[in-house]
Amino acid sequence: MECDHRRIKTFFYKGLVALLAIILFFIADRLNSSELSENMDKEISVKRETRESFAAPIPALSLSKMRLFTGGRHLFRRSWTPAPSSVKSLDGLGPVFNRVSCSGCHVKDGRGRPPKEDGKFRSMVIKLAMIDNDNIYPDPSYGYQLNDKSILGVPYEGKAKIDYSIIDIELNDGTIKKISNPHYTFNSMSFGALNENTKHSGRVAPAVFGLGLIEAITEKDLLKNADPEDLNNDGISGRAHKLVDKPSKKIMIGKFGWKATRATLLHHITGAASQDMGLTSNVFPNENCMKIQKACLEQINGGKPEVSDAQIERLLVYMQSLAPPRQRKIKNKSVLAGKNLFKEIGCESCHTPAYKTGEHPNHPELSNRIIRPYSDFLLHDMGKGLDDGVAEGEAKSYEWKTPPLWGIGLVKIVNKHTRFLHDGRAKSIEEAILWHGGEALKAKNNYISLTKEKRKNLLFFLNSL
Ligand code: HEC
Ligand code: HEC
Repeated sequence: MECDHRRIKTFFYKGLVALLAIILFFIADRLNSSELSENMDKEISVKRETRESFAAPIPALSLSKMRLFTGGRHLFRRSWTPAPSSVKSLDGLGPVFNRVSCSGCHVKDGRGRPPKEDGKFRSMVIKLAMIDNDNIYPDPSYGYQLNDKSILGVPYEGKAKIDYSIIDIELNDGTIKKISNPHYTFNSMSFGALNENTKHSGRVAPAVFGLGLIEAITEKDLLKNADPEDLNNDGISGRAHKLVDKPSKKIMIGKFGWKATRATLLHHITGAASQDMGLTSNVFPNENCMKIQKACLEQINGGKPEVSDAQIERLLVYMQSLAPPRQRKIKNKSVLAGKNLFKEIGCESCHTPAYKTGEHPNHPELSNRIIRPYSDFLLHDMGKGLDDGVAEGEAKSYEWKTPPLWGIGLVKIVNKHTRFLHDGRAKSIEEAILWHGGEALKAKNNYISLTKEKRKNLLFFLNSL
């Protein structure tokens, strides 16, 4: 009798423990999934509100990769010098170039801006394209980008100047907002004026965090949002930019650059070294000099190639491993109201909130992670206001890739400015919204029709990203 009683008691306690374990499991799972649905995985994102918010590696990075990351950061920040120089591994700058270091434009791994009052281009470039019957050619004297600096004994290509005209936009409550429209002029052009069919497009340097995670988004997931013929009739098409990835020679979907002109970071980094700094690599082995630029062609190089494969590898790991910032003030009432409005008025149709990444070919740390970049990475017709005449690859002059919005509220802390859009024309997030047209016209008009309070909430949400 006594014995039976004890057995019942143990049975009861065991049951209780099992029940508690099940309850705890469900609570933990709920917490976990609400964390995932609201914000990013802590292993691949950081929460900081300092000037270094964009500069941290993903916490999941292994020790061996951390060494490559640190080496890459050194190369990203170092000034390159003309050849020949005492430090052979860091020479070969130019002959023509825009800046001596990657971080000169991608300041604090963040975003560039148009010139200040002194008119100097520090973190922005001018892309060029000679357009003839829908075909795209480099300008015969200046190529695809105006290089406004050069090494001693070689003429730089030329200089640009931007002036702005002001346009008034009236919001629903009668408030007038002013937006600035850029106009470019060119001077000190070393090889004569631009060709009469050459168009120009100002481009600020985008922030460079979270790029490895973007690289890990599958093409299948991108194509889910594409609707090139607008079959669902929502006024928003969105098409993938198909291109040949130069390093692998494969046809892939572009994700990087303002017009999604590169599918892989290897392609983008080697292209940047060549176009922005005049550095050759095994992907872009030729110096960036046009035929007419004799002095440019005659200079000694800094090795063949100037950036070795080992250096490219380090830069690549650096670019792949910078962590995106996590959203802040996530439970704040205004933020939550703004988040709903973002969906309601149609911003999410292009600024897709979240993905689960696929398998990254080189970094398991980046695979199968929940990320919240707020972009579909597709090309959209953004209307006449943002059409600057320069087509690139398959992207038309009026088409732009939806840029990710993560970290947008931290730009003022990291980069000490609030200049947005591809050419930095917008002086605030609101001004960037007011430039939306084409497929985004409806969403912009919805924004204009919001009450002051609702506009404030929407901007509050964007600033929490
Ligand atoms: C003179 C300024 C400048 C320099 C120097 C520069 N970049 Fe950039 N970078 C840009 C601009 C402008 C873009 C956007 C180009 C476009 O799409 O039109 C860009 C885009 C990028 C992107 C794509 C980011 C994205 O999400 O779309 C990467 C990656 C990048 N640069 C890496 C580098 C690396 C690595 C270096 C050094 C080897 C470098 N950049 C040097 C201006 C610069
Ligand atoms: C049809 C697709 C589409 C819709 C809808 C859309 N956007 Fe955009 N958005 C874009 C594209 C493309 C750009 C880049 C344009 C450029 O740089 O010239 C952009 C740029 C932005 C930028 C500036 C980002 C940066 O890095 O400079 C912000 C902020 C923004 N959008 C917010 C919004 C908000 C808020 C809404 C809803 C009112 C919205 N967008 C609706 C496609 C869209």
